[in-house]
Amino acid sequence: MDVFEAIKNRRSVRAFTREEVSEDEVKRLIDAARWAPSAGNIQPWEFIVVRGTKIKRRLVVAALDQTFIEEAPVVVVVCADERQSSMGYGSRGLTLYCLQDTAAAIQNMLLAAYALGLATCWIGAFYEEEARQVLKIPFGVRPVAIIPVGHPAEKPNTPPKKSIREIVHHETYGRKIA
Ligand SMILES: Cc1cc2nc3c(=O)[nH]c(=O)nc-3n(C[C@H](O)[C@H](O)[C@H](O)COP(=O)(O)O)c2cc1C
Repeated sequence: MDVFEAIKNRRSVRAFTREEVSEDEVKRLIDAARWAPSAGNIQPWEFIVVRGTKIKRRLVVAALDQTFIEEAPVVVVVCADERQSSMGYGSRGLTLYCLQDTAAAIQNMLLAAYALGLATCWIGAFYEEEARQVLKIPFGVRPVAIIPVGHPAEKPNTPPKKSIREIVHHETYGRKIA
């Protein structure tokens, strides 16, 4: 699939069918994620693959009752190992790089899922401490996103996106070209 097609047509999907997602498909998503760039190639990402109903239900609660999480046959929780990033780059690694690195990995995953005909939603609204407890995540590893993965049961409208003109500055900030 053409990369531009995937970038433009991927949508956040919040309703899933009961159709299964295979282990091989999950593996391909994680494989896509791990090819993302990362500061100093530290690759501070880790992935928790959840299929069990009990844990999914507790993730729904941690994520402010976003119940569609539970509908997805697989939920991938993406974590950032802050210890590795801060060892490499101090406070910049801790507060910036490990989040940028994992965000790049997440986007790779979302695009790969779309290319496989799967649907995803990047969920950032959740109580980290609650997710940490549910998933037994150790101190120094930060859960950064919950990604339900399944087959789409809806076709979301294309959301409005800012125009290129609105977001580009020429040479210095604030300089727009008519
Ligand atoms: C960091 C981040 C956090 C997000 N958190 C949530 C969330 O908690 N729940 C949700 O339904 N969507 C969440 N989204 C998805 C956005 O709402 C969605 O990407 C946006 O509306 C644009 O739609 P699109 O993904 O279809 O282009 C999040 C997206 C990002 C990048």
